[in-house]
Amino acid sequence: MAARSRRSPSSSSRRSQSMVAAAVVVIALALALAPAQAQLSQSYYASTCPNVETLVRGAVTQKLQETFNAAPGTLRLFFHDCFVRGCDASVLLSGPDDEHSAGADTTLSPDALDLVTRAKAAVDADPQCANKVSCADILTLAARDVVSQTGGPYYQVELGRLDGKVGTRAVVKHSLPGAGFDLDQLNTLFAANGLTQTDMIALSGGHTIGVTHCDKFVRRLYPFKGGAAAPPRGRR
Ligand code: HEM
Repeated sequence: MAARSRRSPSSSSRRSQSMVAAAVVVIALALALAPAQAQLSQSYYASTCPNVETLVRGAVTQKLQETFNAAPGTLRLFFHDCFVRGCDASVLLSGPDDEHSAGADTTLSPDALDLVTRAKAAVDADPQCANKVSCADILTLAARDVVSQTGGPYYQVELGRLDGKVGTRAVVKHSLPGAGFDLDQLNTLFAANGLTQTDMIALSGGHTIGVTHCDKFVRRLYPFKGGAAAPPRGRR
């Protein structure tokens, strides 16, 4: 098993600024990648499940009290869901073509999956809401709530996403950025999702919290191949 390295912010104000920037673009992510057929609205569940935001927030708060890991995990889960054919919660599906056992999704946080499962259970435990709220909207709300509960801003979320019914395992590899992507590759991938380079840079502020596995960055520290040590790629 790979060792894990925890990234800690150098100051709370820098962390807060980064989280604000990331949060602003998480909204853009949610809007840019919403399924085209959905009519999004802040009041989408006003008559069917008026307490949906309170129910999801309660589940998020409870899970974060148990483990902070669920916060970065949920933010990443939302990003990965949205980049694989839109924010349709297909990343949560289990089955022979499930996404979360493919490519970069294999390191999605079990705590994040548990957080969303609990939020869905909390919503469905309300008789008025049972099976009325899409998992895509629950994940979108949960991502907003982990941002606000870890020092980022609170922002309004438009709702009404539809859930995907099929996993799309085959496209995961081509839909998510790799740890070794250069700037052109990152720009191309984000542009394909309706996002600019500025969006990409701001969204990268999501890495203010969370962990990475050593194998994702060790080659930038110790370039063993090629004889004399070369500077890490980012410093050339
Ligand atoms: C810009 C392109 C991106 C690349 C190349 C990238 C790459 C990575 C990598 C390699 C990891 C570590 C995975 C592991 O070791 O298991 C990671 C973690 C993470 N990423 Fe990204 N990522 C990108 C964009 C984003 C975006 C847009 C967000 C959300 C706004 C995000 C949120 C996170 C979070 C929160 C973690 C930590 C997850 C945890 O602790 O469970 N990433 N990312």
